[in-house]
Amino acid sequence: MLKIGVLVSGGGTNLQAIMDAIDTQGIPAEIVSVVSSNPNAYALERAKNKGIEAVTMRKRDYADAKAYDIALAEHFKSRGVGLVVLAGFMTILGETFVNEFENKIMNIHPALIPSFCGDGFYGLHVHEAVLAKGVKLTGATVHFVSPITDGGPIILQKAVEVLDDDTPEVLQKRVMEQAEWKIFPEAIRLFAEGKLQVEGNKVRIKK
Ligand code: GAR
Repeated sequence: MLKIGVLVSGGGTNLQAIMDAIDTQGIPAEIVSVVSSNPNAYALERAKNKGIEAVTMRKRDYADAKAYDIALAEHFKSRGVGLVVLAGFMTILGETFVNEFENKIMNIHPALIPSFCGDGFYGLHVHEAVLAKGVKLTGATVHFVSPITDGGPIILQKAVEVLDDDTPEVLQKRVMEQAEWKIFPEAIRLFAEGKLQVEGNKVRIKK
């Protein structure tokens, strides 16, 4: 059974969607630890309500970024984690952590990569930028994490319509409901079933 470690920073609706999908869709995986970069993240409560270990690890409490990477990697390795899931994690991970879990870290980004991604594009800022540009379609992307921010191999994407009267908050909710909460559990299921094959910067989904 695949052991999953989850990194969070906020409300944890994606974490909730993943926990629910594991329960109801028979995904052969279990979440063994949830780590937050923010002690006040509601995501921690969601994990505790499920009886899952929930801890806070903040970059500022470590000597430098590399020490933080090493501590996070040790935390997950000691629990036998085979997949790390970034579910609204707002801290940049360094090469030390990324290389330790090569092609075993998944991130959800609330736009269609390569649009509206990279440094500075996170959370509500992404939807503000989408509305400012006036695009008619946005969506969400699940990808493996590489040392380049939002630059790793793409696993799944789903498009969502942008409507004339959208506010960033309204659009964020539609992207979550119609895309994020569906494709993130689906990508995890494919990984847990051994169906994802990384070839360079592409991911092939085996039948
Ligand atoms: C989600 O929309 C997720 O895609 C985004 O933060 C939100 C977290 O919500 N992630 C990023 O912007 C990462 N660059 P949640 O805590 O309710 O899952």
